[in-house]
Amino acid sequence: MDALPFELKVVNGILPEAAAWIKENITVINQRVYGEKGMPTEPWIDQNFGITAGFTAGFLHRGEVVSMVRACGSLDPGTVHIWTLMVTPAYRKLGLGKATLALACMLCSHMSKLTFITQVEDEAIPVYLHLSNSGGKLKVIGAGFHHTHMPNSIACEASMPESPLETLMSRYDMPPLEDAVEISRAQELKAGSRLLVSSSHKDVVKLAEHASTRTLALVGWYRRSSPVIMVEVS
Ligand SMILES: CC(C)(COP(=O)(O)OP(=O)(O)OC[C@H]1O[C@@H](n2cnc3c(N)ncnc32)[C@H](O)[C@@H]1OP(=O)(O)O)[C@@H](O)C(=O)NCCC(=O)NCCS
Repeated sequence: MDALPFELKVVNGILPEAAAWIKENITVINQRVYGEKGMPTEPWIDQNFGITAGFTAGFLHRGEVVSMVRACGSLDPGTVHIWTLMVTPAYRKLGLGKATLALACMLCSHMSKLTFITQVEDEAIPVYLHLSNSGGKLKVIGAGFHHTHMPNSIACEASMPESPLETLMSRYDMPPLEDAVEISRAQELKAGSRLLVSSSHKDVVKLAEHASTRTLALVGWYRRSSPVIMVEVS
């Protein structure tokens, strides 16, 4: 941690004196991002989620928590699971999402892989795609399952970047939309072919079927009338 290029404030979530700080900062950013009800998780998760399984980290700006990433362990000892990533609305599109994910990677530099769960409409996908800048693609490891309140979830795995800030903060260019066919129309899946997947359950189930027989990588995210993702077959 000493090597991090940031000034660190560490709050231990199991100490009673941390409770008020966490409520005023972590619960507050959850509410700013997800509304009064906060995330669909129990209040204790805000308090001490990190103690048994992981950590919550983020950036403070003039004393206010403006972003956070929450990560937990995995049965695979070399893998960290990114549970949530968020930036308070007033501070979005400034690169903080990428920097916050980079911070989590720096804190997990001893790990070789990270996983995350997403949905087609998730605007964090463009952030995660920057992990591909280090060479490895975002491998689709599961699709079509229920996660919190989202039935069409997709799980992905990425290699841990060696230089997280450089990897995340460099530009990622999405492949052109025209390079892909709708997954519902795809006939033969050749290596290199690209498929577009909408958030419909039918599309995501098809993605799950293909992921069980082929290696698929998440390579793009686009806003059409509703968001779509692009996956590449290898
Ligand atoms: C997802 C989120 C963390 C992104 O934070 P951010 O600080 O705005 O992201 P950044 O500024 O670092 O942007 C990262 C990249 O994604 C792109 N991006 C971010 N939001 C985007 C959007 N809504 N539409 C299109 N592209 C977007 C940016 O263009 C940028 O790419 P570029 O630098 O190559 O242009 C933020 O929007 C958020 O908190 N959303 C709500 C919470 C959420 O859905 N979290 C994920 C599930 S837990």
